[in-house]
This record gives sequence, C-alpha cells and structure tokens, in this order.
Amino acid sequence: MLALVLSAVPAQAREAADAPTAGAAGLGDPYFPLDGNGGIDVLHYDVRDAYDFRSGRLSGRTTLTVRATQDLSRFNLDFLLQVSQVKVDGAKASFDRRNRHELRITPAVPVLAGSTVTVTVRYSGKPDDATYLGEGNWLADAREVVTINEPHMAPWWFPANDHPRDKASMDVRITVPKERKVISNGTLVGRVVKGQVATTHWRSVEPMAPYLAFFAAGSFEVRKDSADGRRSVVAVSKRLAPRLRRASMTMLRETPQLTAWLETQLGPYPFATTGGLVTSLNPGFALENQTRPVYPVLGPGSGRLLVHELAHQWFGNSVSVDRWRDIWLNEGFATFMEARWTESTGGPTADEWLSDSYDALADNTAFWQLRIADPGRDRIFDSAVYLRGAMAVQALRNRIGEDAFWTTLRTWVTSRAGGNGTVEDFRALAASVSGQDLAAFFDAWLVGTTRPARTAANGF
Ligand code: ARG
Ligand code: ZN
Repeated sequence: MLALVLSAVPAQAREAADAPTAGAAGLGDPYFPLDGNGGIDVLHYDVRDAYDFRSGRLSGRTTLTVRATQDLSRFNLDFLLQVSQVKVDGAKASFDRRNRHELRITPAVPVLAGSTVTVTVRYSGKPDDATYLGEGNWLADAREVVTINEPHMAPWWFPANDHPRDKASMDVRITVPKERKVISNGTLVGRVVKGQVATTHWRSVEPMAPYLAFFAAGSFEVRKDSADGRRSVVAVSKRLAPRLRRASMTMLRETPQLTAWLETQLGPYPFATTGGLVTSLNPGFALENQTRPVYPVLGPGSGRLLVHELAHQWFGNSVSVDRWRDIWLNEGFATFMEARWTESTGGPTADEWLSDSYDALADNTAFWQLRIADPGRDRIFDSAVYLRGAMAVQALRNRIGEDAFWTTLRTWVTSRAGGNGTVEDFRALAASVSGQDLAAFFDAWLVGTTRPARTAANGF
C-alpha cells in the first residue's frame, strides 16, 4: 500500500498526461534514487522461491498484486536476479534490464490509473553474485541461508517495489530439502513435503516494507510459545555449539516478556506474532525483520539487543521512515528504548546514561560532526545515528517532561501505525504535544555538527 499523494498538475500538462506514460525508475528517495518505483503501489506479494544450497542458486516465481497510480505504458520493479518471463494479468509482457537493479516491464496493454493487475515474474540466479550499491553480503553457506535486506536488498530474492513507503502483505513459500526448516515473518500456514523437498508457507497479514521481509533455511531448533494470546516462534541454528545454542535459546525465549514490557511503554504491539531467529552465519549485527528479528549468537547480556530489535517493531516497522535520511526515527528510538529498559530493570537511569555518554564523547569531534537528521547515504548506520540519536531522545524527555514525552511517543506510533513519517513530522508532533518551541533544541541535537551545549534548553 502506498499513501496517495495528490500533486497539482499544471493546466498545459493535463492534456499531455492523457497518454499513458512510463513509471519512474525510482520512488524519489534522495539517498537511493533507484529504490522503489513510480506509478505503482504493491498491495500483496506472493513469493515462491526454491533455494539450492549446493549451487547457491535461487529460482522462483513471485506474483505481485499491483495497483497503478498513473496511466502506465510500462513500469519498473527492483530486482537483481535473471528473469525468464513476466506476465501481467496472465498475458506475456515484454521486459528488459537497462540497469541490473531495474526490471522494466511493458505490458501488452497499458495499465490504467486506479486499476489493479497481477504481475508474475519467473527468475533464477545466484544472489551471492549480485551486488547493489556496495551491498553484497548474501549470507549463506552449504547448510544455512538467511536473508538480510536492510536497506534495499529484498531484490536478492523477490522482485519488489523496494522502498519503506510501499508496504504490502505477503505470502512466502520457500522450497528446500526436506531435512531443512524454513522460518519467515508472520504465521506458519503449512508445510508440504514432496519427494526430497519441502515447501514451507508463511504469511504476513500486516503490511510490511520489503526490507523487513526475510526467510531463513537450515537446521533449526524451533520453539513455539504463547503469551497473552500472542504467538511467538523462535529458532536457533543447530550448528552452534551446544552451550551457545542453549544460551541463545534461553535469551530468545525472553521475547514474549520483552514484547509485553515494550507494550507497557509504547502501547499495543503492532503485529499478530512475535519471535526471532539466531543464525550460525554471524551477520555481525541484528536486524529487526517484521515480527521476527534475526540475531547473531545471544547470551545473558543480550537483553538490550532484543529490546532494540523489538522496539523497532514500533519504530521502523509499524511506523517506517519516509526516506532513508529519516533513519534517526528507527535507530535513535530503538537505542533509547535500550537505555529505558536498563533504567526500568534497576540499572543506571537513562538520564545518567545520557550524561555519561555526553561526557565520554567530549573530545570526539568526528562523532558530533554527523548530522543525525541527514547523515548521508553511506552513514545511515553510523554509530552516531544510534548513540547521539538516542541521546537526543532522552534529552527531549528531559526538556518536555515525562507526560509530554510519552504522549508524543505513543501518539507517534498510534497515529502513524502501518505508515511512514519524517524527522520533520516528529519534530512538529513533539512541539505540538508539549506546546513548546523546540526548533533550537532539535537543531542542536539533530542538525548541528558540534556537541550541543550542556544547557537546560538542550535537555540537561
Ligand atoms: N537496523 C539494524 C539494527 O538496528 C542494523 C542494520 C545494519 N545494516 C547493515 N547493513 N549494516 O540493528
Ligand atoms: Zn536498530
């Protein structure tokens, strides 16, 4: 789904607009001009992939339900594997690749604005060979595979309108040798064994940004829990040494309680299921896949990491960035919730954490140079986005007070649930809830390129 943006069309342009035109190759993200596409709104993805561990080949067929937002002579999808056939409403469509990331589809007849078509793409290829803007770490070996998409690698395994502004529900069916298990987002629908292979079907009913979709296949220990009527599915790779495997499972099983704790802070959890997966492939970081984050090995000290990824279910997944430059809305808030959790469980207060971090970073000019509200496309996961970003959130809490602060956060996640927001939207909400002029405050924390002064106005 895509929020409809009506823009004024100048009078002379209106006549010319009668003829169907090509959808743009990108959706308009300033950092990643080719991410997403113009003229289309994907309502649903039906992904059917088979993965061959030996060759590293992924083949499949994805059917997208697509609504046209303009009269389209042709349109693009984002995809990195080799395509053998495209059909639009069952009729063969021509297609080409002017650029490896852009699958350009010309249907036999134009697609009129407001109408919905099905687009079926057949493909095969080795994701490991496909890179995009420097991203190339397809995570797989001969026995395990896990997809990690953020910010824009869904096109490794399905053709997508790959931008957080276009969310869609999703069915994922993955076929692998029957000895392997498959975990994905949402709810398990079923598993069908046929000869030597098994197809596992997962469904996400809530709209999801393509970067938050995932699947993992391998030998997993799976546990299903139910807490407060909500199902949790957690899985740990059996390839980990028994001690690491046990420690990871023990920690992962905290997921329902941590989800429930976050609800006491932020309001209702936005999705029907929760869970997580620990892979043996060591991604080096965790990723907040919708309903089911993926983690490296966990231990007794991993509570903060779980809180971080689960907090993303509100900040990032339910309310997503409008452009990747808004990444503070994901990472600053998920990191702040870590400090809040520490404070709530008998550790130092988030305010002490702010003060200590501020002091510890006194001489680190490089750290303070990054503009958190617009870090640049190569710096969206810079540690300053997380740390200074979270310090900004705690400073806001100090500046506007407990009531206005939590009202702002809860209003943000409820009023925009399932949608998107910009840093400017958040600034406006905080100002309106608190009734304060916060322009200088936010500029100091999010825009300035030096350490904010230790003043009451800056939240000290
Ligand atoms: N969003 C993830 C997290 O907060 C981090 C993703 C980092 N991605 C990357 N390609 N390094 O933990
Ligand atoms: Zn994060």
